[in-house]
Amino acid sequence: MKPVIREMVATDLDRIDELEEQIFPDPWPTVAFEEHLKDPEAGGAVSLSGDIVIGYSCYWGDRGQMHLTNMAVDPVYRRKSVANELLGHILDLARKQGCELIFLEVRVSNEIAHQFYKSAGFQTINRSAGYYNDPTEDALVMSRWIEPDRDGK
Ligand SMILES: CC(C)(COP(=O)(O)OP(=O)(O)OC[C@H]1O[C@@H](n2cnc3c(N)ncnc32)[C@H](O)[C@@H]1OP(=O)(O)O)[C@@H](O)C(=O)NCCC(=O)NCCS
Repeated sequence: MKPVIREMVATDLDRIDELEEQIFPDPWPTVAFEEHLKDPEAGGAVSLSGDIVIGYSCYWGDRGQMHLTNMAVDPVYRRKSVANELLGHILDLARKQGCELIFLEVRVSNEIAHQFYKSAGFQTINRSAGYYNDPTEDALVMSRWIEPDRDGK
């Protein structure tokens, strides 16, 4: 069954905290998600199986560019296009906000994420030294253009 995608809300954060702890060596604190939810330029999207969050992604729009700040999928649900669908949802939001470019940072060692973003049309445009802590590591900066809809929106 295709997962449902909706806007992230505060009551999702307990489940998202669990997934963050499970997935990332340097999980975001809850307050980082709360800041996304409070900011009118930012937000998050969640993918649901039933009423369980199985994937999520956060973003920040700024001066015609969308910054994809986080993306993760429950390991049990990987390789089922959950991330691809979340990204498509955020690209639609970015288009509606008039963004022309989307970019993100990713750990240089995270080859699976590089594969995912490359499959979605991103290219590496820069390397940011020591961007990550716990453990300290460089980031690759990846970006892609956001093509307008056929009707120009
Ligand atoms: C990266 C991540 C979000 C991908 O989520 P996903 O739902 O499994 O990805 P999708 O099923 O949408 O994959 C789409 C395409 O990406 C590529 N891809 C995804 N996972 C891959 C893997 N393990 N190996 C190679 N290519 C992969 C493939 O081209 C895939 O298409 P295909 O399955 O038809 O071959 C997930 O692996 C994850 O949560 N990783 C840990 C957190 C993380 O690294 N986040 C990104 C950094 S912020």
